[in-house]
Amino acid sequence: MKILVTGAGGYLGQGLIVPFEGKTDLRLMDVSDFDTRHEKVMGSVADLDAVQRAVEGVDGIVIAHMASRQAGSYDTPVAPYDTNVKGTANLLFAAVAAGIPRVSLISSIGVVHHWQKQGTFLHADLPLRGEGIYSHTKICQEVIARQMHYDHGIGVAAIRPAYITDMDSCCDKYGHQATSCNWQFVDRRDIGEIARRALLLPDLGFEVFWALSTPMASDHVDMASTYQRLDWQPEYDFSNLPHDA
Ligand SMILES: NC(=O)c1ccc[n+]([C@@H]2O[C@H](COP(=O)([O-])OP(=O)(O)OC[C@H]3O[C@@H](n4cnc5c(N)ncnc54)[C@H](O)[C@@H]3O)[C@@H](O)[C@H]2O)c1
Repeated sequence: MKILVTGAGGYLGQGLIVPFEGKTDLRLMDVSDFDTRHEKVMGSVADLDAVQRAVEGVDGIVIAHMASRQAGSYDTPVAPYDTNVKGTANLLFAAVAAGIPRVSLISSIGVVHHWQKQGTFLHADLPLRGEGIYSHTKICQEVIARQMHYDHGIGVAAIRPAYITDMDSCCDKYGHQATSCNWQFVDRRDIGEIARRALLLPDLGFEVFWALSTPMASDHVDMASTYQRLDWQPEYDFSNLPHDA
């Protein structure tokens, strides 16, 4: 079995691949160069030809790229829509054309940011309502993926992490070091295991899987589908940090 991971050189990608290693072959795609011992494909997901070549011979895809958050890049729709939305559409269309049965899409809790701010208990049936261009693009990703499932039957796991970090270093992608944790923390390797298990579900529809690592998450988010459907429990629960209330 071979899995394509996009955005594989990024902060999430580098941790996400860990649970796949030794269990499946990996093809890693990114627009920026990075070191790896796995098969590497350099190219942009916004380039349909490059995407069509990247999906050749793979059995599943983890979509984990995003336009850089560098200063100003989310002030206009250009880069975020090109990479996050068009890039994801390219991958889904190429996957369908290549007969790839299942995709794990790394979405975000940002697709329901409005409800999170209200303190609403978060579940899969809430209407998508975010805030700002980043949320727009994540919502578009899910809408396109859901429609591709309706149109073509491709299985899609829409994985919604909150605050991605790493239990060993307690550092996030910006280098911020946590000294305590709250319910939104998720280790990037736990996300990889969720993505891996979802790709193995023979009857995967379009399904939402919340990705959170701490025990407090269940007070705020409906974690049941992730725990039960995937028979998954977090391996990296941040028990090394004091937990905020
Ligand atoms: N970091 C968080 O706390 C967080 C929270 C929720 C969801 N997410 C989601 O996780 C995913 C990964 O985010 P991250 O934090 O690792 O970001 P990141 O910026 O560290 O990594 C993104 C990677 O995508 C690559 N990329 C950018 N444009 C590309 C293109 N056109 N073609 C191919 N690759 C391209 C970048 O080079 C980079 O390596 C995103 O979907 C993001 O929305 C992140």
